[in-house]
Amino acid sequence: MKIGLFTDCHYCKAEYLGPTRRPKLSINKIREAMNAFKSNNVDIVFCLGDMTDHDENSTKEQIIECFKEAMSLIKSYNIPFYLVPGNHDYLVMTANDMEKEADFKIPPYTVETNTHSFIILDANYRSNMVRFDKAGVQWTDSNLPPHQIEFLKNALNTSTKRCVVLVHENLDPSVDKMHIIKNAEQARDIIKNCQKVSLVIQGHYHSGKESTIDNIPYITLPAMCEGESNSFRILEL
Ligand SMILES: [Fe+2]
Repeated sequence: MKIGLFTDCHYCKAEYLGPTRRPKLSINKIREAMNAFKSNNVDIVFCLGDMTDHDENSTKEQIIECFKEAMSLIKSYNIPFYLVPGNHDYLVMTANDMEKEADFKIPPYTVETNTHSFIILDANYRSNMVRFDKAGVQWTDSNLPPHQIEFLKNALNTSTKRCVVLVHENLDPSVDKMHIIKNAEQARDIIKNCQKVSLVIQGHYHSGKESTIDNIPYITLPAMCEGESNSFRILEL
């Protein structure tokens, strides 16, 4: 099967955010990615988070509009699509806002296909195990709370297929330290010991990174919002 991937669009109406991010360009990059996914007969599409962002002039209504615009563009291609939430998605919107405004599913959950189980996790929790939308976003303090860890264990134990784990923040310990999930080692041990995981996919670390850990590929996708070039990806599993 083929999966389509992109991450960290940071879509909003700002021309620049910081020296390198071009958030306004992301809507056309999403369109370009979806066109490529469609012409390559991709079966499922995942965005690894940070769909939206904002600058000092943005209102909550404008951010929700950008979110809805991106989500309805993606949905118009009629390819199954799942958004793995990122820290920026929780800056202004809550999980319930995203669920209400567009077709957002609150993690953890599993997407089953004939050949694979895709396990979608949310590490947007502070050390006190309260999610960012209630606790306030602190991008350097991401954690997988006990209920997400339990979900991962159960999903892996019960799956009879090859498993793919998706999460916005990083399980790969070789990226810049601030981006790594605080209890990443605990999750990596579970992933290693079950011997069913064929791939781990992450976003968040904008440069991107590819590692092999315990013989499992850990892919961190480069961020779509960086510069003028696009960075979507199609993988054949
Ligand atoms: Fe990001």
